[in-house]
Amino acid sequence: MSKRQTTSAGAPVPTNETSKTAGARGPVLLEDYQLIEKLAHQNRERIPERAVHAKGWGLQGTFTVTHDITKYTRAKLFSEIGKQTEVLSRWSTVAGEQGAADAERDVRGFSLKFYTEEGNWDMVGNNTPIFFVRDAYKFPDFIRTQKRHPQTNLRSPEAMFDFWAGQPESVHQVTILMSDRGIPKNPAHMHGYGSHTFSMWNEAGERHWVKFHFRCQQPIENHTNEEAKKLIGETRESFQEDLWTMISEGRFPKWTLFIQVMKEGEEDRFPFNPFDLTKVWPHADYPLIEVGELEMHTLPENYFQMVENAAYSPSNVVPGIGFSPDKMLQARIFSYADAHRYRLGTHYEALPANAPKAPVAHYHKDGAMRFFRNDTGNPDAYYEPNQYEDAPRADPSVQEPPLKIDAEAYRYPQEVTEDDFVQPRALYLEVLDDDARKRLHQNMAGAMGPCSDAVKERWYAVLERVHPDYARGVREAAESAPALPVTPDTPAKAAE
Ligand code: NDP
Ligand code: HEM
Repeated sequence: MSKRQTTSAGAPVPTNETSKTAGARGPVLLEDYQLIEKLAHQNRERIPERAVHAKGWGLQGTFTVTHDITKYTRAKLFSEIGKQTEVLSRWSTVAGEQGAADAERDVRGFSLKFYTEEGNWDMVGNNTPIFFVRDAYKFPDFIRTQKRHPQTNLRSPEAMFDFWAGQPESVHQVTILMSDRGIPKNPAHMHGYGSHTFSMWNEAGERHWVKFHFRCQQPIENHTNEEAKKLIGETRESFQEDLWTMISEGRFPKWTLFIQVMKEGEEDRFPFNPFDLTKVWPHADYPLIEVGELEMHTLPENYFQMVENAAYSPSNVVPGIGFSPDKMLQARIFSYADAHRYRLGTHYEALPANAPKAPVAHYHKDGAMRFFRNDTGNPDAYYEPNQYEDAPRADPSVQEPPLKIDAEAYRYPQEVTEDDFVQPRALYLEVLDDDARKRLHQNMAGAMGPCSDAVKERWYAVLERVHPDYARGVREAAESAPALPVTPDTPAKAAE
């Protein structure tokens, strides 16, 4: 039986189709409040899209512990083998807007919200183990080069390669982006990485530095540029469609969680800065330790409520998991919650996608849209310290062990050194085979096709530092490519 339709204030409505007019031909009366409200609500249906990672796809699922890592962490979600925790995932492209095509060449976001019994742990990673830059000052500029040119309103390869050429440490990530893995078939066929170095601390207060790897159990599958071009011509929503089909058919994608672990203190003996986000920890030195299995099995009933409203933040850690000195991570701890307060509002953590399964008790009150209980459970306990036994109290037992920092505050320049080319070189020479290298050359040459010669030459010089074959391969692919039509993507100032 249908429900009786009401206003948002709960009163039954006589019609949802016919305006109230003076006479059969109109005009409409101002007192037809339901019409006004309907139109006003429509005007407020959209919220700001994420400044980055605007296009996304999400599922709900379960994480199950398969191996004991309690010697590293006291985090309750890892407390025993077999323990299960609900998870909300959101995968995304970085640069495109909400309407962007899914099969674009781009890094993919890999966000997981674990609703643990001691609060939400958010793993806000990517499908790459590293990143383009290693100082947060450079992040807004980097993103600007990925978005639209202010005059042409087009994406600008000139800006992208100009920026990367000025940031040679980005070559590691650009190599991955231009390799076969730059266009995954869909989220089920790619790995996920926490990318930063994080920390874990155990019951005894011992800290280890940790990298998170979610390795997909489905085979790694990617699209070539040609396949993606054809696919985008047929559908812009290939990821969402694939996920929908997989879940509807009961083919639930799975990942195995591994960690790499470094004892606190060992970082000083590491050959480079282990908190540098442009570098991995080699597997041979820091082997993968298996932890558990992630299975994503449910399409959220309402996309807006669970995926668009999802507010992931690296600041969401739980006792037993912590940060590291990584400068980028430190900046992200601020940036995400700030973005959520703007995009979703002050009380974004109370929305269904974000509300912890753990009890919540804090002294924040009031504010726009305080739509849930506005006190601590005791109306007198609205400040602290207070005399009330039932009021929320901090728990010193969840205090993180102290981290020794003995250093001079300074803006330390991070010069580009030979170290920055060791890992891209290993990727290029040892991980990729001849065919994969050829495709890398062609993909990169294609992506930089519209760039000015000046920018191309600066980029070839960066590739040269990785390996002369890399620079030569991309140059040859660029020079043998058919000439591109002139685009409005001209560097106005540089050309003068
Ligand atoms: P390994 O040979 O143990 O690992 C190579 C890694 O590279 C594997 O995880 C592999 O994934 C992944 N890989 C293969 N092709 C690509 C690609 N096109 N883009 C991104 N990753 C790819 O070597 P090391 O640990 O010594 O690392 C060697 C180089 O591999 C590094 O310099 C780095 O560039 C890259 N790499 C390293 C990772 C790490 O955490 N150590 C993680 C990912 C990349 P798969 O197993 O699915 O084939
Ligand atoms: C989204 C900032 C680096 C992964 C975002 C958002 C901001 C942001 C503001 C939008 C949040 C929202 O509106 O919901 C930054 C800053 C960075 C940085 C300031 C560097 C200093 C990174 C890195 C990674 C990453 C290194 C991966 C390792 C993501 C992901 C999302 C995202 C996956 C989408 C989250 C979601 O699914 O909702 N970032 N970011 N970011 N970022 Fe970053």
